[in-house]
Amino acid sequence: MSTQANILSLLKDRIGQWISGEDLSADLSVSRSAVWKHIRGLRQAGYVIDSVPRKGYLLRQTSDQLLPDEIRDNLQTAAFGRQAIHYLPETDSTNTAAKELAATGAPEGTIVLAETQTGGRGRKGRHWFSPPQEGIYLSMILRPDISPFEVPRITILSAVALAESLGRVTSLSPTIKWPNDVFVGGKKIAGILTETSTEMDITNHVVVGLGLNVNTRVFPRDLAPIATSLFLETGRTFSRVVLLRHFLQEFETSYQSTRSKGFGSVIDRWRSLTNTIGRRVAVTLNHQSYSGTASDIDADGALVITDDQGRIRRILSGDVRFE
Ligand code: BTN
Repeated sequence: MSTQANILSLLKDRIGQWISGEDLSADLSVSRSAVWKHIRGLRQAGYVIDSVPRKGYLLRQTSDQLLPDEIRDNLQTAAFGRQAIHYLPETDSTNTAAKELAATGAPEGTIVLAETQTGGRGRKGRHWFSPPQEGIYLSMILRPDISPFEVPRITILSAVALAESLGRVTSLSPTIKWPNDVFVGGKKIAGILTETSTEMDITNHVVVGLGLNVNTRVFPRDLAPIATSLFLETGRTFSRVVLLRHFLQEFETSYQSTRSKGFGSVIDRWRSLTNTIGRRVAVTLNHQSYSGTASDIDADGALVITDDQGRIRRILSGDVRFE
C-alpha cells in the first residue's frame, strides 16, 4: 500500500476521531510534512478531512468520486470490480474505452468508470446525458460462453440487477420497460447499452454500458419531461460508490447463477419488475411498426406481442412505445 493509502486507512479506522500528525508520521515512518502533503492529496481526491493544530486530522467524509480503492472497500465480488477498474475523470464514452480494452484481451470483470462523458451513447445512436459527478457511467467487460443470439439475455439480466439493487438501496420501486430501461415514477432513471463482438456463432466479448442518473437536479429541457434521477425522486443525495458496489454484487451473483441454473429465474424476476406486460405497445423495428398487447417475455428475453388479429410476434430488439 502507498503511504497515502496507509494514511487513509488509519483515518478510516478512526473515522470521526482525531489523530495527531505526530502519531501518523511515527506509525508510518514518514515526516510530518509528508503526512501533510498526502492529506492534501486525499482532499483533492474528494475526502473531507479537518485539520486543527495540536489535535491533528479527522476524516469527516469519505470521497464520493468513483475511486477504485473506495469501490473495492467492502466489495463482495470475485471478478467485477476485482479485475482492473479504469477510472477516467473524463472520457467520450466508457463503452468505447471498454471495447478497446476488450479487443486487446482485458479479462471478464474489467470495468471502466467515468465522472463525465463528452460523447455518452445510448441505444439507436442517441446521446446519453452525462453531467460531471452526478451519475454513474459504467462499462463492464464480459466473456460469456453463449451464442450471439443469447446476448440479449445479458441486457435483461443487467436491468434486473440494477432495478433490484436500486430497490434495496433506496425507498423506490423501480420498474423495467422492455428491454432495458429502468423507470421510476413514469420517467427513465437508467439505461443500458450492450455492445457485442462476435464471429460466426461465437461471442468474443460483451460490453455492458450502464448510465444511472443519481444526484442530477436539472435535466436539459428536452429530457426534463422524460428523465429523472434518484435525487429528484427522493429529495436526497446518494453515494454513487455505495450504489455501484450494490449493483456490482447483485449483477455478479445473478450472472454466476445463470451459469449453473440457467436464465429462467432472471426472466421470472424481470416479469415481477416490468411495466410492459399487459400494456398496448407499438414497437419499431427496421423502420416497421408493430402494434398490439405485450403479452409476455420468452425464455430468450424476446418480447411477445399479440396483435388485434391474435397473431403472435417475438421481438428481440427494438424500441417500445406505450400507446
Ligand atoms: C439507453 O438507454 O439508450 C442506453 C444508455 C446507456 C448509457 C451508458 S453510460 C455508460 C456507457 N457509456 C456509454 O457511452 N453509454 C453507456
